[in-house]
Amino acid sequence: MSAVLERPAPIPLPRLDIVPMKRRHLRRVLGIEARVYPRPWSASLFLSEISQKTTRTYVVARIDGNVVGYAGMMYTGFEGHVTNIAVDPDVHGRKLGTRLLLTIIIEAIARGCEIISLEVRVTNKVAQAMYVKFGFSVTGTRRGYYIETKEDAYVMEVSGANSTEYRLRLQQIRAELDRLDGRKR
Ligand SMILES: CC(C)(COP(=O)(O)OP(=O)(O)OC[C@H]1O[C@@H](n2cnc3c(N)ncnc32)[C@H](O)[C@@H]1OP(=O)(O)O)[C@@H](O)C(=O)NCCC(=O)NCCS
Repeated sequence: MSAVLERPAPIPLPRLDIVPMKRRHLRRVLGIEARVYPRPWSASLFLSEISQKTTRTYVVARIDGNVVGYAGMMYTGFEGHVTNIAVDPDVHGRKLGTRLLLTIIIEAIARGCEIISLEVRVTNKVAQAMYVKFGFSVTGTRRGYYIETKEDAYVMEVSGANSTEYRLRLQQIRAELDRLDGRKR
């Protein structure tokens, strides 16, 4: 028996796009939100977030025009903070989270961010593995941060996000996606 686990097939690129989040996307966004979080964000919170264009970036990933994931970043000075990232469970493991995170981190660097931070549940090992791949490391713990479950959060950060070294890491992630898409580099 093979020890290599089968990975889901990548989504063919012509069917996939990542675009700024708009009000019209929220019905699908809220549907995903309700599936993946015990305390989902409300429509009014998303509306408030996407209206703050100078200090926020929100994007959605779509397959054939249907929203299947989204991510958000908030900017304060030289710091970008990942506010939310989620993918429809039906298409987990197909690199959509990677594509979304790459998109908002590139935007944060373009806006001059040197630090990128986030909170993640201590039990959320899948998300933590994705963040480690992007160079995040744990810098602290917020006790009882998630009030509905009293679960602790790790604070994870990338510092030197605008360094050559970090740009190279992002290029490697981009190259990996390009290989999956069948595009040579
Ligand atoms: C976290 C989340 C956005 C990842 O999205 P995804 O599209 O499934 O992730 P990807 O396919 O891009 O995988 C990214 C990395 O996550 C990790 N990962 C993904 N699936 C995994 C699994 N089943 N087991 C372990 N690690 C896994 C791997 O490190 C993977 O990188 P690799 O493909 O190079 O091995 C998704 O699981 C999700 O929506 N979770 C619920 C919401 C959530 O927890 N958000 C984060 C809040 S802090």
